[in-house]
Amino acid sequence: PKDFHKNGDSQSVVSGTRDIRPGEGGVIVRGEEKIAVCRDEDGALHAVSASCTHKGCTVTWNNADRTWDCPCHGSIFALDGSVIHGPARKPLASVEL
Ligand code: FES
Repeated sequence: PKDFHKNGDSQSVVSGTRDIRPGEGGVIVRGEEKIAVCRDEDGALHAVSASCTHKGCTVTWNNADRTWDCPCHGSIFALDGSVIHGPARKPLASVEL
């Protein structure tokens, strides 16, 4: 799995999403905000906050399962941010790119 760490304004976030190919995901930085972005097989982008709703660790892309996984305590989120596995109870917030 690839992580994309891009600093800067929303302009560079948009250009950063070009690096994400269909079926892949990555975390992009916009100012203080980390955004978990994935592109589905149809080319559409899905963006949610990359901050885990449990204690705020940054989720990482799981290419095998196509989920966002938290490295801290094992929460797993779907592409739309909904919780697949706790301890997190709230979904990742949706984000406008
Ligand atoms: Fe993500 Fe605890 S901070 S599972």
